[in-house]
Amino acid sequence: MKVLVIGGGGREHALVWKIAQSPRIEQLFCAPGNAGISEIAELIQIPVDDIDRLVSFAKIRAVDLTVVGPELPLAHRIVDRFQEIGLRIFGPRRAAAEIETSKVFSKALMDKYGIPTAKSEVVSHEAAYTHIASTDLPVVLKVDGLAAGKGVVIAHSRAEAIAGLDGFKKMGDAANQIIIEEYLEGEELSFFVVTDGIRALPLGSAQDHKRVFDGNLGPNTGGMGAFSPSPLLTPALESEIMSKVIDPTLQALSKEGCPYQGVLYAGLMLTKKGLYVLEFNARWGDPEAQTLLPRLKTDWVDVMEAALDGRLNQINLEWEAGGSICLILASGGYPGSYEKGEIIWGIQDPLPDGVLLFHAGTTFKDGEWLTAGGRVLGITALGRNLSEARRQAYAAVKQISFEKMHYRTDIGAARESQ
Ligand code: AMP
Ligand code: GLY
Repeated sequence: MKVLVIGGGGREHALVWKIAQSPRIEQLFCAPGNAGISEIAELIQIPVDDIDRLVSFAKIRAVDLTVVGPELPLAHRIVDRFQEIGLRIFGPRRAAAEIETSKVFSKALMDKYGIPTAKSEVVSHEAAYTHIASTDLPVVLKVDGLAAGKGVVIAHSRAEAIAGLDGFKKMGDAANQIIIEEYLEGEELSFFVVTDGIRALPLGSAQDHKRVFDGNLGPNTGGMGAFSPSPLLTPALESEIMSKVIDPTLQALSKEGCPYQGVLYAGLMLTKKGLYVLEFNARWGDPEAQTLLPRLKTDWVDVMEAALDGRLNQINLEWEAGGSICLILASGGYPGSYEKGEIIWGIQDPLPDGVLLFHAGTTFKDGEWLTAGGRVLGITALGRNLSEARRQAYAAVKQISFEKMHYRTDIGAARESQ
């Protein structure tokens, strides 16, 4: 079969790598992909939000299955548009993807259906200034729309809250409505399922590291590294997440007339008072996918097709025992401004067994690999346990370098002994 993957980051490299292993694949395309992905799939130079051209490409080339990586094309109705003309595509339609693309929608849905989440109120950007004058501190401020990880501010003082609201001004319409949310204290966990809209199969857990520097310092990024599974996820907690969060959310979306198909990602906070949803995402996480997909033994093409056909009951997901970790190698300055075009050394040297390199922002020019993004590469290592995976990843990172490269040295460190 012919498969098209939409996206061009590390998550999509991991998806293409996994899909390429399916014996059913005859031809694999990726739009727009990246230089690393070009070694295993044919790159199609169409941006992820140019839905007209993606639809035409899939139609003309008779693509059997399209797989959506990032959230932006979901918000642009890619799934609706493909399905309207009978093309098979894996991911939620726009109305269901609102669970990620509108925090106002997702908070209202959770409140209406009793899904545990922090108390919140929604106000206009202007009115938020008055509200924060009298709220309890710390307070969490979120913009309604997509903000590439920059739409959340945790303010410990009124001055920080005002600065946060001022910062949201440059986000345009995404910040028309502001969610003022109760601050929750606890441990964070990312939990993933694949669903046909009714039945959901757990895909397991991962823990992301969003801050740029060691010790969770510095500004938020798209994610500087992750590990999987999370030792926080006991079988009892997994059943609780399924019964209190995932199943009621899928039922709620169906009742609201927007059943959800695809991978659903719940960002959870485990507090002393119990389990809360921080947010939902309508896709795999990046870099969480780079830790979860390499641990999955089952053919991911079979799983996606089963979800599309409503027969997930026939799928038995099998996983590698042990753990995995992904370290992100970033350009100097990221998540702020950074240089591109630095030569990457050591990228083609053979990697030890159990270590994989996923490209996020690279190009190949005149015989050299160059940096082309903020997050440049991800090193994923598998091990019998998290400690072994960590050792492997941090040993492999030494073989790669580029000017001003930086990465966190404490990915998974706090969890290593568990
Ligand atoms: P979100 O995009 O909603 O997941 O928020 C991004 C990050 O902000 C989360 O990963 C948490 O670290 C933090 N966060 C979000 N909401 C809360 C909350 N209510 N209490 C404490 N931290 C939060
Ligand atoms: N790593 C966080 C995300 O993909 O949203």
